Amino acid sequence: MINDIEKILVSEEEIDSIVRRIAALIDRDYSVPGSKLVLLCILKGSVVFMGDLMKRIKVPVEIDFMRVSSYGGSTVSGGRVNIVMDIFRKDLDKCDILIIEDIIDSGRTLSYLVDYLRLKGAKSVRTCTLLDKPSRRQVDFSADYVGKIIPDEFVVGYGLDYDERYRALPYVGVLKPEVYGKN
Ligand code: IMP
Ligand code: MG
Repeated sequence: MINDIEKILVSEEEIDSIVRRIAALIDRDYSVPGSKLVLLCILKGSVVFMGDLMKRIKVPVEIDFMRVSSYGGSTVSGGRVNIVMDIFRKDLDKCDILIIEDIIDSGRTLSYLVDYLRLKGAKSVRTCTLLDKPSRRQVDFSADYVGKIIPDEFVVGYGLDYDERYRALPYVGVLKPEVYGKN
């Protein structure tokens, strides 16, 4: 465990079992003839979860990417969602979009994205998150697939960052409070 991490909140083993459980649910729900499942990775935080999850899903999947920002080098949400990189597909009306997110905090990012993709004409839109902090909600939102509910603590690792650092850790951990003071 690196020095800046106070404790591990979700171990590699637990992440692996979460990924297998969610992949099995997705296989069950999307094994419908004529469905075109598109896993939509929300960059950058979801990239590790996406990579692991797509390997475990057995039904055919396509992948796509969007990048949004609502945080900027801090642990407090900016309150609005900006699309930094959009999804470009001509066949969106045939796509069953499953948004893959690292964590739900205020709920703004996912509730905005679901509305956005429906307005853009996607055939269906559902959401999957590795982590969920329901105690932090500012808007009413719940995901279709949730890996683990966690308390109100700022976490890093397995894709999640603090000021672009710690994304490559193989587990999810809580930062030592003094690390925030260094920035
Ligand atoms: P929301 O729009 O407030 O639900 O925020 C979702 C986004 O905030 C996530 O995609 C993360 O990028 C970021 N975020 C929220 N909580 C954390 C955290 O504990 N660690 C790192 N990033 C977080
Ligand atoms: Mg982030």
